[in-house]
This record gives sequence, C-alpha cells and structure tokens, in this order.
Amino acid sequence: MSRKKIILITGANGEIGKNLIDYLSKSGSNNIVTLDLQPLEDTSKIYKHITGSILDQQIIDDVNADYEISTIYHLAAMLSTKSEYAPFNANQVNVNGTLNLIDLAIKQGTMNNSPVQFFFPSSIAVYGLDKNIVNPIKESECLNPKTIYGMNKLYCEQLGIYFSKNYHRLTKDYSPDLLDFRSIRFPGLISITTHPTGGTSDYIPEMLHSASKSEEDYECFVNKETRLPFMIMPDAIDAICKLMKVQKSYLKHQVYNISAFSPSVELFHNKIKTYFPDFNVTYNINEERQKMVNGWPSEVCCERALYDWDWKAKYNLDNAFSEYFIPYLKSKAVNS
Ligand SMILES: NC(=O)c1ccc[n+]([C@@H]2O[C@H](COP(=O)([O-])OP(=O)(O)OC[C@H]3O[C@@H](n4cnc5c(N)ncnc54)[C@H](O)[C@@H]3O)[C@@H](O)[C@H]2O)c1
Repeated sequence: MSRKKIILITGANGEIGKNLIDYLSKSGSNNIVTLDLQPLEDTSKIYKHITGSILDQQIIDDVNADYEISTIYHLAAMLSTKSEYAPFNANQVNVNGTLNLIDLAIKQGTMNNSPVQFFFPSSIAVYGLDKNIVNPIKESECLNPKTIYGMNKLYCEQLGIYFSKNYHRLTKDYSPDLLDFRSIRFPGLISITTHPTGGTSDYIPEMLHSASKSEEDYECFVNKETRLPFMIMPDAIDAICKLMKVQKSYLKHQVYNISAFSPSVELFHNKIKTYFPDFNVTYNINEERQKMVNGWPSEVCCERALYDWDWKAKYNLDNAFSEYFIPYLKSKAVNS
C-alpha cells in the first residue's frame, strides 16, 4: 500500500507553528501532519495531529512507517529562558530531539530515494559577544554562545550540515544528498496573534500585548537601553517559505541571518506611546535575562540571505506598527 505524502511540522502548537500552518494551508497544502506535546486547538487546516514528544522513539518510528515525508519543519524546542532553568532537559529536547528528526529525514530519504527538505529555526543566541564588538554580526563571527539554548542551536546547525554532507561517508551506502538541511538564525519574533512563552526577547511582544490592554503598565525585565534585532511574524513565515522554495544550487550556505529592525526598549516604548499615549513601562531588571541579551548582537548582517535568495524584510518598525500591530489591535477592540 502506498504511504500518504506529507509535510511534518514539529512544535506546531507554538507561535511559529500556528502561523506556518495558516500560511501553508492558505497556499494549498492539505497534507500537513503535526507533532507537539500539546493538542492543537484548530485541526481544520491539517491532515493529522499527533500529541506527543519528539523524544518518543515509538512515535517517530510510527511516523516513519506510516508516511512518505517530503519536508520537515522542525520547530519543537525549549526556548532560551526555560532552557537556562532546566539545562539538562533543554539539551535532551533541543539536541537529542533534533537528532531524532534528522535520523527520520535520512531514513525517509533512503526509503524514498529522494532528499527530504529539513527546516531548522536557529537563533541569534548562537552568538556570544564580548565588549567592543562592532555590529552588525556576520554568520561566521562571534560563535561563542553563552547559554545552553545558544549552544544547542549552534550544535544542531552543525549536525544538520554534517549529516547533509557526510552521512555514511565511510560506508558503501554513502549518499550525501538525502538531507537538504536549511536554517535561519531568527532574531526576536513579534506576533500579534499569539503570545510568547519562555524566550528572552519576549519583552518586546509582551509590551505590545500589554499596551493593548489599556489598564496595564508593563514591568520590563531588561533595561531601557537594551537593543536586539527583531522582525514580525509574517516576515518570518515568508522567509521560511521562501528559503524552502529556492533551488538548492543557489544556496551557497545552509545557515542564514535575517532581521528587520533593532529598537531599544525605550524607542519601542515611545513608538507604542504614539498609539497608546497612557502606556507606561516600569523596570524590574532580571540580572540573568539581562546578561543573556547583553551577550547577543544588537544587529545582524543579512547580506548572505540577500545575495543567495533575495531576502529582504517587508516590514520596518514604522509599517510593522501601521500595517500589522495597530490594525489587528483595533479590530480586536471592535470585536470584543
Ligand atoms: N519565537 C522566537 O522569537 C524565536 C526566535 C529564534 C528561534 N526560534 C525557534 O523557533 C522554534 C519555534 O519557536 P516558537 O516561538 O514557536 O516556540 P514556542 O515555545 O511557541 O513553541 C514550541 C513548541 O514546541 C513544543 N514542544 C516543546 N518540547 C517538545 C517536545 N519534546 N516534543 C514535541 N513538541 C515539543 C511546545 O509544546 C510548543 O508548542 C523553536 O525552535 C525556537 O527555538 C524562535
């Protein structure tokens, strides 16, 4: 019996996963299978959801037996702040979980005699800056992560590259093209339709969500000078889909920086105030989280993505507000 051809999304119940499912289903994909620890609220846009862990070998084996997989979007992970509080668990999920998915991709590639595309969302946490480093940071610079999450992400990028180039190098089964591994190092992502949990760049989306509930001030856990790169979720989803569509021969690399704007906390607060004049931010600095963001670049160089797959952000800080955040918040206010 022929197996159903599918796209597999792990971590599908997260912020990126929900937005990616929307995008892919609007583009006509009706063969999405999802795997997440949590059940999906809305299963109308997918073929099947599996509630379980990427660490559960039985689940991975069943997926391997039941389906023919063309593409894996491997989004499941423990994010940066949560990982610092539970580094051994983080290593299990972020590294061993990713290895399970890479192994699944190679098994599928071998069985179907066709490469499996694999998307891996990396992060600016792979960088570790010491003082006096000049931004923007290129992909090959400052790869000295200071957090377990950043270490996990950097190692998984390297595993993806290793297995796509060298798998079975020393055996007669050698076939370097079974895994088509592609990765983006995301900056902080701002989604207006979903809420972040467990990331260290969460202060910017949290500010926005709390401004929209007019009665609340926002207590920020990093200082007002803090500046990290960000982009809005629709641009991030566009970038994933664009990278996955590019012909492999155009890609000179497997890992790419992208970002759109790098506001300080103070600048973002002032920008919010032009729409919500009474919105106030207070500061209660969390030293650990401040230390984490201080080690990350405030700007990343995106030239590689521009040259190889013509990537540019559609939204800067101004039109992110005028065309994405504010229209959504206003429509929510009208409907509530
Ligand atoms: N959101 C960002 O700003 C950002 C920035 C850089 C990189 N990333 C990366 O993008 C990916 C998705 O991020 P997100 O913001 O959607 O995260 P999220 O925390 O919103 O979603 C992660 C999902 O993974 C699931 N998950 C966790 N452990 C699992 C396991 N063992 N088995 C199965 N599912 C599991 C969770 O239930 C959750 O639904 C992650 O790999 C993250 O590291 C995100």
